[in-house]
Amino acid sequence: MSNLWNFLAMLTFKPQPLPDDIRLDGLTAIVTGANVGLGFEAAKELASHGLSRLILAVRDLSKGETAKAEISQESPECEILVWQLDQESWGSIVTFARRVSDELGRLDIVLLNAGLKRLEFTRSPTCHEAHVQTNHLGTALLSLLLVEPLRRTARQTGKPSRMTITASSAAFSAPMQDILEPKGGRASSPGLMTRPHSSLV
Ligand SMILES: NC(=O)c1ccc[n+]([C@@H]2O[C@H](COP(=O)([O-])OP(=O)(O)OC[C@H]3O[C@@H](n4cnc5c(N)ncnc54)[C@H](OP(=O)(O)O)[C@@H]3O)[C@@H](O)[C@H]2O)c1
Repeated sequence: MSNLWNFLAMLTFKPQPLPDDIRLDGLTAIVTGANVGLGFEAAKELASHGLSRLILAVRDLSKGETAKAEISQESPECEILVWQLDQESWGSIVTFARRVSDELGRLDIVLLNAGLKRLEFTRSPTCHEAHVQTNHLGTALLSLLLVEPLRRTARQTGKPSRMTITASSAAFSAPMQDILEPKGGRASSPGLMTRPHSSLV
């Protein structure tokens, strides 16, 4: 029943833009899964509040460039960089995080939003079920690797930095057994059934 109420609430909820007086001048932000959907809208919103530098972390660089062109049109003063990130690859996540440490002088805001929803069961190259890999394990590793650059900036500026992870109410549908003893998806379960587990992050 609560799922039905959640669904109805989603249909009627209207997201509000950030208040006009919020200014992000001088700040640097990363948004993952920024080429479409919630990530794209969040990136566009941040840029429109005077953000100085925005990193669009995307799987496909050409999709990222298209998103960059659209955001730049509305917020030409924001420097926008398109960087490759595939959360189905440990190597890609580590390379991305290293690049953050090496190339960004500061990091103030991180929105970890990249996520997957599929109906069928698929395995990532890491051998984990694809939802569990992308939505949970990949996001968790990236979050740990980005804590230090966020902390460093907070120490330098004396102001708090911020990391937000897009969650899903699908997590409430995960069976308690899977919360207590996660199995990471089984070959017999369709992707739809593993998404709730992957949303527990
Ligand atoms: N929309 C909703 O109603 C809703 C509800 C609850 C939770 N959420 C969560 O909110 C987040 C965004 O949802 P959305 O509706 O905006 O989804 P979306 O439109 O499907 O966008 C998902 C984004 O994640 C990227 N992505 C997928 N797999 C990736 C990977 N392995 N590595 C890096 N990036 C990857 C996609 O890149 P490509 O374009 O290259 O595929 C895309 O940019 C997800 O985490 C989702 O679980 C959404």
